[in-house]
Amino acid sequence: MRAAVVCGLGGSLPPRIVTNDELAQRLDTSDDWIRTRTGIGRRHVVDPGTTTSHLAAEAGLRALKSSGHHTVDLVVLATTTPDRTCPGTAPTVAARMGLTDVPAYDVSAVCSGFVYALQAGAGAIAAGFAERVMVIGAESFSTILAPDDRTTSVIFGDGAGAVILRAGEPDELGALQHFDLGSDGSMADLITIRGGGAEQRSSGSPARPEDSYFRMDGKSVFFAAVRRMAESSRAVLAKTGWGIEDVDRLVAHQANIRIIHAVAGQLGLPPERALMNIERVGNTSAASIPLALADGFACGSLRAGDRVLLTAFGGGATWGSASLVWPALSSELTLPIENATPLLTAH
Ligand code: UT7
Repeated sequence: MRAAVVCGLGGSLPPRIVTNDELAQRLDTSDDWIRTRTGIGRRHVVDPGTTTSHLAAEAGLRALKSSGHHTVDLVVLATTTPDRTCPGTAPTVAARMGLTDVPAYDVSAVCSGFVYALQAGAGAIAAGFAERVMVIGAESFSTILAPDDRTTSVIFGDGAGAVILRAGEPDELGALQHFDLGSDGSMADLITIRGGGAEQRSSGSPARPEDSYFRMDGKSVFFAAVRRMAESSRAVLAKTGWGIEDVDRLVAHQANIRIIHAVAGQLGLPPERALMNIERVGNTSAASIPLALADGFACGSLRAGDRVLLTAFGGGATWGSASLVWPALSSELTLPIENATPLLTAH
C-alpha cells in the first residue's frame, strides 16, 4: 500500500514583531493578562503589501529546498485569509514559486485547515494521483482582526508553514499513519466573518463595516476545542494502534496554552510532551501546526522516529487529528525560522 511520507519542512514569519506591551498601549489589556490567559508573549505581523500568498510561497520554497526536490505534482493551501475571496490563493502561491502548471487549491477549515489539507495531500498520494505534494498552512490573520477587539487582537498572529509529502511505504520514517476529521456546522457562528459572502450579499442589505472583521466567542470555543481535540486524538490513536504512552510528541494547534494543557490532561499525556511555540508566535490558525513542527525540528525537540500526534480545532466548527512517525529530515532547517534568510526577496 502507498503511504504519504513527510520529506520536507519549512516555515516563514514576517519580520515585524508586536509585543504584548505594544498592544497594551492601544487596547485595554496587559502583558500579564495575555500571558496568564493565553501563554502568548508576542506575535509576528505582516507589513502593508505583504499577503498570505507571500508567506505561503516563502514557507513552501523552504520546505521544497529541505526536501531536496525541485517540484511537486500538487499544492494544497490551508488558509482563513486568502489574498482575495475569488479566486483561490493556492494558484498564486504556486506561481510565486515558479510552478505555473500544477494543480493548486485552497482548503478552508480555519485553524483545523492544515490537518484537513494534510489529509487531502496524503489521499492524493494514496490514490496514485500524485507522487509529491506540497501542503501549506498560511495566514495573514492580522488583516482580518477588528483593531478595537481586545479578545481577538491579543491572540492571533501571522505566518506560514509547509511540508512536502512523497509517495512511500507505511513503515518508513515520516509516514503519515491515520487521520480523524470532523465538523459541526451548527457552531458556525462561534468563529466567523459575517460579511462579504453570499449570505450577506443575497440578504440585500449593505455590508456593515463591523461585519468585515473576524469575530469569536472565545469562551464557547475554548470548551469545544478541548473536548473535540481530546476526542479526535483518542480516535486517531485507536486507528493507529497506539496507546497514549506511545506518543512522544503532541503537536496541538497553538490556540491557547491552557487549551493545550487541558487536552494533554484529558488524554493523560505528560504536559512536557506537548510541543509549544505559542509564546513566540501566538495563534497562527492554519499555519500553527506546521510552524510548531518547524520550530520543534529546528530546536531539536522533534527527532527521527518520534511518534507524533497532531490535533486541531477551528471555525466551522472543524477538528482533526493525525498520527505520524517523525522523519529523518535534512538539516537545512537548523536555523530558527525567524532568523532565516528570505528565499523570496521580491514581492
Ligand atoms: O484558534 C481557533 C480557536 N480559538 C481558540 O481556541 C480560542 C479559544 N478561547 C480562548 O483562548 C479564551 O477564551 C480567550 C483567550 C479568548 C479568553 O480567555 P478567557 O479566560 O476565556 O477569558 P474570558 O472571555 O472569560 O474573560 C475574562 C475577563 C473578562 O472580564 P470580566 O467579565 O471578568 O470583568 C473579559 O472582559 O477578561 C476580560 N478580557 C480581557 N482583559 C484583558 C477579555 N479579553 C481581555 C484582554 N485583556 N485581551
